[in-house]
Amino acid sequence: MPIAVFNVSGRYYAIEDVCTHEAETLSDGEQLDDIIVCPRHGAQFSLVTGEALSPPAYEPVATFPVRIEDGMVQVKDDRFD
Ligand code: FES
Repeated sequence: MPIAVFNVSGRYYAIEDVCTHEAETLSDGEQLDDIIVCPRHGAQFSLVTGEALSPPAYEPVATFPVRIEDGMVQVKDDRFD
């Protein structure tokens, strides 16, 4: 699954890189602080919670825990733990 990692003022957030509206690649969109704007129809998602903040998306994107270990960004898919 594609995952995108964003830097928000020095904190890292990871989301599934697929818009819940029509599966556009969210990392191609514009980042506005802790919000990502889908490049296709403009839905906005919180990078912190994954919540869909504006139509035409209504379902949240998955978010994943991120840590920095020895200078590497590590992301865990904990949905099936
Ligand atoms: S595909 Fe993202 S808002 Fe439509």
